[in-house]
Amino acid sequence: MKSKLIAGNWKMNGSLAANQALVEALIVGFAQARCGVALCVPAPYLAQVQSLIAESRIDLGAQDVSEHVSGAFTGEASADMLREFGVRYCLVGHSERRQYHTETDAVVAVKAQRALAVGITPIVCVGETLAQREAGETELVVKRQLAAVIHANGHCISEIAVAYEPVWAIGTGRTASPAQAQAVHAVLRAQLQAATPHADRVHILYGGSMNAANAAELLAQADIDGGLVGGASLKPVDFLSIIAAAQ
Ligand code: PGA
Repeated sequence: MKSKLIAGNWKMNGSLAANQALVEALIVGFAQARCGVALCVPAPYLAQVQSLIAESRIDLGAQDVSEHVSGAFTGEASADMLREFGVRYCLVGHSERRQYHTETDAVVAVKAQRALAVGITPIVCVGETLAQREAGETELVVKRQLAAVIHANGHCISEIAVAYEPVWAIGTGRTASPAQAQAVHAVLRAQLQAATPHADRVHILYGGSMNAANAAELLAQADIDGGLVGGASLKPVDFLSIIAAAQ
């Protein structure tokens, strides 16, 4: 069985001093962890966190990557640039990017491609809004979002990770129940199985108000291979509890 992966998504939070304190606390508590742990940090802090985690088993992650390879794209960071800082994972298509930066399924698929091309594992985020869930469209929406990435990435699809993050559960304190989450994860697994014989290798993470209290039950579900953790990843005690629940 593959080990679980717990990825922290710091979003646009942190400072040099706060990052150092947080990472140092994690490294002390993390010594025994047997699951994968990654920190997806704001781009300006990649170099700092790369050096802070250099001697640890924590992996570095980014929160976004440009759909372009290089050139006149002010404000963007390319996959090659991320790679230079030792980035192993990169979120693509987080709902906040889809919502505030109008990232379409097609753009997300290209971003996943750019990451894969340089050996970075894209964590492809999918998830429905509350209105879509209430309209019974959850399956349709997440399958459409993942289908674009499968279509653009062909045989490499077993090299991605997926994060199911219901938009209504992100930062709201409202978590999908383990059964609700597992049902969607099973749909995503089946979709991957139809695309690759290696679908079981793909980590499908749950994200959306995962915390120290609810992590164990979510992580016990058959198709939940880890977590993408926002708010709780900024609190070392909470994040370490989630990591402990993933052992
Ligand atoms: P949350 O965020 O854990 O604060 O809900 C998760 C995410 O957006 O990745």
